[in-house]
Amino acid sequence: MGEGIGDYTRNLIDLRRHMWLEGVEVELRRLIWQIAVVGKYISAKIHESNRKLAGFQNVYGEEQLALDRISDEIMKNKLQFSGFVREYASEELEDIIQIGSGKEKYIVTADPLDGSSLVDTNLAIGTIIGIHKESVMDCGRNTMVAALYITYGPLITMIYSAGKGAHEFVLDREGEYILSQENIKLKEKGSIFSPGGLRRDWNPAHLKFVEKLESDGYKLRYSGGFVPDINQILIKKGGLFTYPALKKAPQGKLRLLFELQPMAFIMEQAGGLATNGDQDILSVKVESINQISPIYIGSSTEVQLAKQMLS
Ligand code: AHG
Ligand code: MN
Ligand code: MN
Repeated sequence: MGEGIGDYTRNLIDLRRHMWLEGVEVELRRLIWQIAVVGKYISAKIHESNRKLAGFQNVYGEEQLALDRISDEIMKNKLQFSGFVREYASEELEDIIQIGSGKEKYIVTADPLDGSSLVDTNLAIGTIIGIHKESVMDCGRNTMVAALYITYGPLITMIYSAGKGAHEFVLDREGEYILSQENIKLKEKGSIFSPGGLRRDWNPAHLKFVEKLESDGYKLRYSGGFVPDINQILIKKGGLFTYPALKKAPQGKLRLLFELQPMAFIMEQAGGLATNGDQDILSVKVESINQISPIYIGSSTEVQLAKQMLS
């Protein structure tokens, strides 16, 4: 029997079947599926950009849209006709926009392409999505019903949580998202850390915290892409990512709505924690869609230690 046929005789679980088995509500299930499909389109665009890397010029002299803008257009257009999305908020847009008729159930937040400046280095990049009910101008704990992210690396993977654990899927050659890890659970303590920002810009308490991790033997793992850095902690079942308050940027760099809330939602579902140093990320009230916040996210021991050392 050929290898291919062997594959199909195994009892593989794809994304749609998994969500059905998990009892994810039908509209939410369809929405998550559509977003996962958008991931395939975005990855096709990333692959097209290899023409630019190979030195091809745009023969018509047209201005080429940046990959993050293209990804945003694809996401917005697809969700517009999904029938499930009332409003769309994206890192690429100034404001929340209405894309449905007003009767749809969900609001979607997107960082359509995270780490876009890494494309030419061939490091992994990603897409981050939050799904909310009601308004996003509240804390995530009250509004979020699901979150997912997609990694575009040597493999394309997708992690989603609809509030019943965090699950990983791998896109196979046939274009199906196949379940690879169900109910990912972090250990209480990990052995890697990803610290953002320059050491000279850190506040003394944060510096002490990082020095403690270093003296405890944590290995440095920082790629400059939030999605792969978080994914590494999730898949290795522990560790810590931080982008802290900086001397000149007391709220750090990363965006609460588009980057931090979805990752906090998934991390908590995997038994981890996420804090701004004082409050859980999901308890921070969103006052503006472009709000940024410091973050400490990962397995519980390290996040609790951060809280303790920062207070
Ligand atoms: P984006 O490409 O969506 O603007 O996000 C980039 C972010 C994130 O991916 C990463 O964790 C962080 O910027 C890296 O920042 P530094 O270059 O300051 O380390
Ligand atoms: Mn980003
Ligand atoms: Mn982005």
